[in-house]
Amino acid sequence: MRLWQIPSFGIDSLELVERPAPQPSRGQVLVRICAVSLNYRDLMMVLGKYNPRLALPRIPCSDGAGEVVALGDGVKRVKIGQRVAGIFMQNWIEGPPDAAKQRGALGGDIDGMLTEYVALDENGLVEIPEHLSWEEAATLPCAGVTAWNAVVHAGRAKSGDTVVIQGTGGVSIFALQFAKLLGARVLGTSSSDEKLSRAQKIGLDSGVNYKHTADWGKWVLEQTNGVGADLIVEVGGAGTFAQSLKAVRVGGTVAQIGVLSQSTEPLQIGPLLHKQVHLQGIYVGSRADFEEMNKAIAMHSLQPPVDQVFAFDRVQDALKTMEAGSHFGKLVIGMEL
Ligand SMILES: NC(=O)c1ccc[n+]([C@@H]2O[C@H](COP(=O)([O-])OP(=O)(O)OC[C@H]3O[C@@H](n4cnc5c(N)ncnc54)[C@H](OP(=O)(O)O)[C@@H]3O)[C@@H](O)[C@H]2O)c1
Repeated sequence: MRLWQIPSFGIDSLELVERPAPQPSRGQVLVRICAVSLNYRDLMMVLGKYNPRLALPRIPCSDGAGEVVALGDGVKRVKIGQRVAGIFMQNWIEGPPDAAKQRGALGGDIDGMLTEYVALDENGLVEIPEHLSWEEAATLPCAGVTAWNAVVHAGRAKSGDTVVIQGTGGVSIFALQFAKLLGARVLGTSSSDEKLSRAQKIGLDSGVNYKHTADWGKWVLEQTNGVGADLIVEVGGAGTFAQSLKAVRVGGTVAQIGVLSQSTEPLQIGPLLHKQVHLQGIYVGSRADFEEMNKAIAMHSLQPPVDQVFAFDRVQDALKTMEAGSHFGKLVIGMEL
């Protein structure tokens, strides 16, 4: 089988190599991977910015979908031919997180999905919704589950709420789709007017270009009669956090997810406590969260936001596209292109 591995950091260092396909051991399942999606984390992992001490060589990418082709002894949960995706943290099945459940992240702690075949524990898989293509299903494990947890569990978004998304990447577009399913009003920021128009076509109620309007927190206040938003889906990190605190309402929630930007300004604690903000860190989610999200996706026939699909031998081009930030929603690697 063919696989990509990180022998040393850098996109151009990635190697496409041949290795015998793994045999599933007891309790494991062999999956033929049909599509893999890229997350910003995968880019940081390849660049050595996520974990400079990552054990190398490592197969990158947490998110893949494929078909079960062989079962190890004792497997009961999964059947040959089933369409599945891996769960991001292989040990977080359900319930609240703890340190042990958070070990075993694909494409980080252990080898990931950028390979033609992978052997995973039968418990580390979920069945994917029937209406989704392989490419669409591959977008779910990290970006989808993270957005689901931000909007549904941390934010408890409901009809009439205002939710703010930042940028138009994978997590943010999923958050837009989930917030609209729940009947919320969604405001968004982007570096691109063209991407804002695209987001409006799939439900964004109003948008602002953060390159032209750096004080977008004020814009959110204007859009909400001075009240502020119920939920900020925070992917910008240090560089956007102060604006998020400005934009959130008293008693609202900031779901802290991303690290896309930096700041030289000191962290503002004042607004956090004066506004009594609920600040919730999000780290993807459990298999139970993934299954709950899949039920909603199936019930509403939701189409995940696939922007471009690259052939397996063009992984480096796909990562460079992500680095340039020109994408809208998800970038995917299709194994059969
Ligand atoms: N904690 C978790 O569990 C978790 C899970 C998934 C992702 N993440 C993190 O969440 C972030 C987003 O991940 P992703 O995979 O969705 O990334 P992505 O698909 O690469 O999206 C990045 C997009 O964010 C926007 N952006 C960049 N800088 C921005 C800024 N300063 N303000 C507002 N928007 C900005 C840009 O959109 P425009 O071009 O529209 O401006 C860019 O295209 C990353 O930091 C990632 O590491 C965390």
